[in-house]
Amino acid sequence: METISLEQGMRERRAVRHYSDAHISDPLLSEIFELASWAPSPGNTQAWKVIALSHEASKDVITRFELAGWESVFPVLGQVLRNGSAALPDGQGTEPQPSTAAEWNQHVMDMYHKHFEVKGSPRLVFIYRTIDRKRYVDLFLLSLSTLILRSKEQPSLIKGLGHFISSLRNVPTLIRVNALTRTLGLANFTYALTLAAHSRGLATCIQSNYLNVQRDLRRHLGLGSEVDIVASVLIGHQAPNASVVPELFRTRKPVAVDWIDELAHRKP
Ligand SMILES: Cc1cc2nc3c(=O)[nH]c(=O)nc-3n(C[C@H](O)[C@H](O)[C@H](O)COP(=O)(O)O)c2cc1C
Repeated sequence: METISLEQGMRERRAVRHYSDAHISDPLLSEIFELASWAPSPGNTQAWKVIALSHEASKDVITRFELAGWESVFPVLGQVLRNGSAALPDGQGTEPQPSTAAEWNQHVMDMYHKHFEVKGSPRLVFIYRTIDRKRYVDLFLLSLSTLILRSKEQPSLIKGLGHFISSLRNVPTLIRVNALTRTLGLANFTYALTLAAHSRGLATCIQSNYLNVQRDLRRHLGLGSEVDIVASVLIGHQAPNASVVPELFRTRKPVAVDWIDELAHRKP
């Protein structure tokens, strides 16, 4: 197989929703998962776990849950489309825009069926972590005991008490950041998975719509409530006639960067 540079891979990878029926073997998926596991994670926790559905099971889940998962996304998609067309200079819109609410609803549904509804037979992969509620209690207690130790190091009891009280409000932040960084670890794995699949000539699409129906999905798959699905990814061979989504869903805008050279005069 032709090898491509990392840069080329990053620029070429595109979300694909239209697949052929060509099969993807378990060993190939395993290879992709192993490659994706080189993604960085906080403290190298590698908290990601994967559920890989067969082609048949993927079809079943897509048929049952895709549209239900999209229901709550349609208003957001309508908003994105409205904002996107409003941002285009006059006369540069590709098609005439709807004017009434009913026409907008129809436009969103047409857009979904044409571009976003999954076609063909990809494999569906869920990336999840196991929620360990006890871990958060432990983390809270650990933060508290560290805080008490630090407060005891203060020169007086009053100062120690002041330090304790003012630091106490950081504890919820610590816990929130801990949860967030764990999620970021899984996000890194998810993106790495798409690049790993791309490096093997496969197409992917990260899908969040299934997260909206997570409870029903878990029940259908026989999974416990401790399973927290963070992402789902379609993996397959791109259909030769796959539609190309509107530019709005493909292009990149310049990265907003706030270059900081001088700190002296900055005010919040
Ligand atoms: C976290 C995340 C969630 C996404 N959820 C969906 C989804 O539910 N359905 C879908 O069709 N595409 C979904 N996408 C794909 C994005 O629409 C796509 O990545 C974006 O339009 C940029 O296009 P590109 O991936 O082709 O560069 C998601 C992407 C990310 C990163």
